[in-house]
Amino acid sequence: MADFGQIWTEKYRPVRLKDMINQEHIVSRLQAFVDSGSIPHMLFAGPPGVGKTTAALCIARELFGEHWQENYMETNASDERGIDVIRHKIKNFARTKPLGGDFKIIFLDEADALTKDAQQALRRTMEIYSKICRFVLSCNYPSKVIEPIQSRTVVFRFRPFTKADMQKMLVKVATGEGVKFDEGALEAIAEIASGDARYSTNLFQAASSIGDKLTRATVFEAAARARPEEVKNLLKFTFAGDFSKARDVLIDLTANKGISGDLIIREIHKQIVEAENLPDLKKVELLNSVGEFEFRMLEGANEIIQLDALLAKICAVMK
Ligand SMILES: Nc1ncnc2c1ncn2[C@@H]1O[C@H](COP(=O)(O)OP(=O)(O)OP(=O)(O)O)[C@@H](O)[C@H]1O
Ligand SMILES: [Mg+2]
Repeated sequence: MADFGQIWTEKYRPVRLKDMINQEHIVSRLQAFVDSGSIPHMLFAGPPGVGKTTAALCIARELFGEHWQENYMETNASDERGIDVIRHKIKNFARTKPLGGDFKIIFLDEADALTKDAQQALRRTMEIYSKICRFVLSCNYPSKVIEPIQSRTVVFRFRPFTKADMQKMLVKVATGEGVKFDEGALEAIAEIASGDARYSTNLFQAASSIGDKLTRATVFEAAARARPEEVKNLLKFTFAGDFSKARDVLIDLTANKGISGDLIIREIHKQIVEAENLPDLKKVELLNSVGEFEFRMLEGANEIIQLDALLAKICAVMK
């Protein structure tokens, strides 16, 4: 029986660079830096779930050994948007003396979410403390990172996993967990996950809880459930009034991932009910709309048109 106590993406996250699958073109260069005992400032660019955070963690472990966590800080630019995070949190960590070694590492996730001003401040911080602190910036779109930062970092472009590499990774997980599978099941996961190793591992874990053996059918069954994080994204964009981004997520969920409108609307409902920092009046207004659109969908109205209209309505309410 598989162990569901731990999230498999964490349990099977590679610990050393040599354990990383895929990204060979990057791993060998990173290994050379590590072997030399020093790293430059770096920019890791690439789609979600391909090993950017993992590579940074491996580097820190290999450079700093047992006490790596004392010399490594990870922070997310989009959680703490704006210039303040650079001014305070990052600067405070950057200026303290490294323990043991010569420098510390700051891993800044979603660096492309920083405003231009914040990026300028970051650039100055990188320069001032470069002797004792190396920055590893991670982003999906390097073009959103200002040129002065790009030119001060070594840029690594991480690639989406190939289907073959994805299956290689899943076989490792399956072996570790003792999960039986049909050949076609792993292929199906690799197809659905389109290069995202985190998503494929999560899907693998979810599908493993259905039945004794993983098959194409159980994979598709697990994939068809609306995933709360994605609906969360959808709501994040609508709450921010960004209809077109919300619509992209919606199309991805319905057209690419085959998730039914019914499941999506139920998850939207649940998340609005649970939303913190949403005034009661807004909540009531939103829930009324959700109810109305759910009713229309049950009556047989076109799902996409109704969901589109619901997103537009939420955007309008939140304005
Ligand atoms: N190269 C890899 N080899 C093996 N497993 C990997 C690799 N890359 C990613 N994974 C798996 O996917 C999970 C997520 O990877 P990671 O956190 O490194 O993604 P990321 O590129 O930082 O994504 P994001 O842009 O969303 O932050 C890992 O915990 C691991 O299970
Ligand atoms: Mg990451």
